[in-house]
Amino acid sequence: MKTKQKIMVIYGTRPELIKLAPVILELQKYPEDFELFQLATAQHRDMLDQMLDIFQLKPDRDLNIMVPNQTLDQLSSNVMLKVSEIFTEIAPDIVIIQGDTTTAMVSAMAAFYKKIAVAHVEAGLRTGDIYNPFPEEINRKVVGTLANYHFPPTMTAAENLKKEGIPLERILMTGNTVVDALKFIEPKLDGYTPRVQLEPGKKMILVTAHRRENFGDPMENICKAIIDISERYDDVEIVYPVHPNPNVREKVFNHLANRDRIHLLQPLNYIDFLVLMRKAYLILTDSGGVQEEAPTYNKPVLVMRLVTERPEGVEAGVSKIIGTNQKNIVNEVSRILEDEDTFRRMSRGTNPYGDGQASQRIRKFFKSLELD
Ligand code: UD1
Ligand code: UDP
Repeated sequence: MKTKQKIMVIYGTRPELIKLAPVILELQKYPEDFELFQLATAQHRDMLDQMLDIFQLKPDRDLNIMVPNQTLDQLSSNVMLKVSEIFTEIAPDIVIIQGDTTTAMVSAMAAFYKKIAVAHVEAGLRTGDIYNPFPEEINRKVVGTLANYHFPPTMTAAENLKKEGIPLERILMTGNTVVDALKFIEPKLDGYTPRVQLEPGKKMILVTAHRRENFGDPMENICKAIIDISERYDDVEIVYPVHPNPNVREKVFNHLANRDRIHLLQPLNYIDFLVLMRKAYLILTDSGGVQEEAPTYNKPVLVMRLVTERPEGVEAGVSKIIGTNQKNIVNEVSRILEDEDTFRRMSRGTNPYGDGQASQRIRKFFKSLELD
């Protein structure tokens, strides 16, 4: 008779590790209840390593899958074959995956093929548009179809799952574990100086952009809008840690390198990034995680996407969907820079995505499951 669950946590990319680190750290506190195994696909190599350092985690196995400019099919087949081998070797009772990446979707499929139970952290996010975000909307729907346990962060996400026919007893609304990660990092932020020297008195706009559906013209528009903003406002500095995906990096450096008041940086570790987020006047992003973090620091977020699966920030009035049209981006940024009321309205409130207790709820849920 078994006395504890054998749980395998799988992560591949920067955001997966940020959002699974609190779950791993929580489960590690209860070795009498859980036998834990961490598997890194390393779909991201350097950006994953940055986060492993910050959270002081070490995977039990690292598949080192990333290749430069990888395609979705190449990545998917590598993850499927290699993760599947580890399942055969380790035979976990439960596999935990997070979000909507290729690592998450393919690992969930591989677990399903071996009839291993799948638990999905950050379940139920939907836009209803299979190409926005691409391929993430389909990735998370596939996971939603085959997962055994679903941990939606919000009521809206939980409702999405109910509408798709997931039985109530398999759903636990937990809050987003990213808020747990922020709480964990918070004490480490003080005393850190920003990675870039900012001129006192200037307003800083923090930018990130990496989504596949924004490759090509949208990315070009984003770059041109950033140039317009930097030329229009000499009291504004733009700080942009650039995602290493070659489709992003080449365009961004070609357009924005060596320009006044635009600072292009390498991807930052989590502490350095949050230090800058705290200093920002506003945030311009197409990221999922950044939308969830900004309300903790009361920062207005302009979302350079056509739709978001995170409507809570928009409903609370602290974020706004602005698309990727050059003029529109410039106009929306200008409104926040020039209109105090708009700025103030978007810089308040609490974080609608979680309360920092998500990983505890997840741990208690696993503890309540009956052992075979
Ligand atoms: C992936 C996820 C996306 C998530 C994003 C977070 C998929 C299909 N996409 O997109 O959902 O929002 O991560 O950042 O799962 N690279 C490096 N070093 C790194 C990481 C990436 O050089 O540490 C470069 C490589 O050339 C790599 C490329 O970026 O081939 C693309 O990486 P990949 O994970 O396939 O896609 P992302 O665009 O990062
Ligand atoms: N982030 C970071 N360093 C950076 C840029 C982002 O640590 O230079 C963090 C950010 O705080 C958030 C996560 O990375 O938690 C978001 O990752 P990304 O935007 O790549 O993925 P998404 O959330 O869109 O899937």
